[in-house]
Amino acid sequence: MEQQSIQSEIRALLKQRNAVLLAHNYMRDEVQEIADITGDSLALSIEAAATDADVIVFCGVHFMAESASILAPEKTVLLPRLDAGCPMADMVDAESLRKMKAEHPGVPVVTYVNSSAAVKAETDICCTSANAVKVVQSLPEKELIFTPDRNLGRFVSKFTDKKFHLWEGYCPTHERLKPEAVLALKEQYPDAPFVCHPECNPAVSALADHVCSTTGMYSYVTENPAKRFIIGTEAGILWRMKRENPEKEFILASPALVCPNMKLTSLEDILEALQTMKPVVKVPEEIRIPAKRALDRMLAIPRD
Ligand code: 13P
Ligand code: SF4
Repeated sequence: MEQQSIQSEIRALLKQRNAVLLAHNYMRDEVQEIADITGDSLALSIEAAATDADVIVFCGVHFMAESASILAPEKTVLLPRLDAGCPMADMVDAESLRKMKAEHPGVPVVTYVNSSAAVKAETDICCTSANAVKVVQSLPEKELIFTPDRNLGRFVSKFTDKKFHLWEGYCPTHERLKPEAVLALKEQYPDAPFVCHPECNPAVSALADHVCSTTGMYSYVTENPAKRFIIGTEAGILWRMKRENPEKEFILASPALVCPNMKLTSLEDILEALQTMKPVVKVPEEIRIPAKRALDRMLAIPRD
């Protein structure tokens, strides 16, 4: 079937099922094009909690659909590709986190939303890349366990005197961006600010003019008067950047910045999910309730 006719069939089925299509900023262009909402992890969680739709079609990776199920248990959450996981989220499990907590009694756990529901259930407060600094600053305690992203943890630790016990997780996609690649591009395009995601290695973030979440990047490149930018995050972000700023140029810092999991979901997968109402992601109540506490505590922090 032709791309346009699949897209119209999806739109018709979304209406019929009273469904909303949420897509992460890293999704394929043609998926972002038909989404009701595109956004970063924080924006999509908030939308999942607020929507009136009966069905949420989550175009992203597994932990994001779990977050939607935690926040909106009465809704049917579809993840068109059940095999779309996040290797960083898989680097921590509930059992190992419990062991670390036992080694640091009374120390609160801050968990990046890129984590399983079971890990969130062992957590005091969640964070995303958009609010991690505020979340950590909101804690009265002087030390904390930060999991699973060591790079985000190191980045946040620069904004506070608190002591961090870092989990050694990382995003394999962002980790593939090397400082040498950034330095070479900076030399080639000296007028171009370099903006990157805090999941990048600290050696890369140190070279950045600005470090922020994916949504933060859209604002940065729109508000900054520069005519071109070097972009240090997953390639999917370029679609909306170019659409919103057609007169500007965006240079991906490395061709390796492609997350295979974020690229799995095709229009055909979305259509099939809406036709069959499968695969459903549903978090069991005994995990959902404590995980929701950690997400709610994060969502109570005012946004900028
Ligand atoms: P944000 O969209 O929250 O910036 O996160 C990036 C990411 O890696 C999601 O998997
Ligand atoms: Fe996970 Fe990194 Fe892919 Fe995001 S980009 S889903 S953190 S592997």
